[in-house]
Amino acid sequence: MQTLLSAEAIQDRVRAMGKEIRRDHPGELHLVCVLKGAFMFLADLLRALPDTTTIDFVAISSYGKSTRSSGEVRLLKDLDTGLEGRNVVIVEDIVDTGLTLTYLQDILRARGPKTLKTACLLSKPSRRQVDVKVDYIGFTIDDKFVVGYGLDYGEKYRSLSYIGIIGD
Ligand code: IMP
Ligand code: MG
Repeated sequence: MQTLLSAEAIQDRVRAMGKEIRRDHPGELHLVCVLKGAFMFLADLLRALPDTTTIDFVAISSYGKSTRSSGEVRLLKDLDTGLEGRNVVIVEDIVDTGLTLTYLQDILRARGPKTLKTACLLSKPSRRQVDVKVDYIGFTIDDKFVVGYGLDYGEKYRSLSYIGIIGD
């Protein structure tokens, strides 16, 4: 498989994103990780943030085995705790069409967080269908289907410590 982003490049960038998020959130911080793709990004980002940082998980319907979005978004697993008055950062693996994030931002905003920001490891701007705001972006990439570092193709390749291009 062709490597798009090496493990070292990812680690450096995630640490820098942690620094930026720390700087913007001097107080309490709560991360909402979007399962499953963002679990590895969350684990590394969390270790670049203060020890008092709390986490929760949400699961959104995925594409299944297709590499193209069906455009349909569903909430499969909800949060364990409320967001009222908290400083929340959504942690997502990749923003593609933007449909998933737009949906998630809307439902989380309705729960009354003090602040709501979004961190995405990857962004494919050429595929955007809706104009979604992402506050922290790790890497901007071309329209190629990528796997590794939590991202899957048919539930496989999540374990890779680098990000590769499937099919190449
Ligand atoms: P969106 O709703 O089209 O922005 O889709 C975002 C979701 O699609 C991400 O959270 C990923 O789970 C999945 N996705 C989009 N592009 C890729 C890719 O290149 N590799 C793996 N998953 C992807
Ligand atoms: Mg995802």
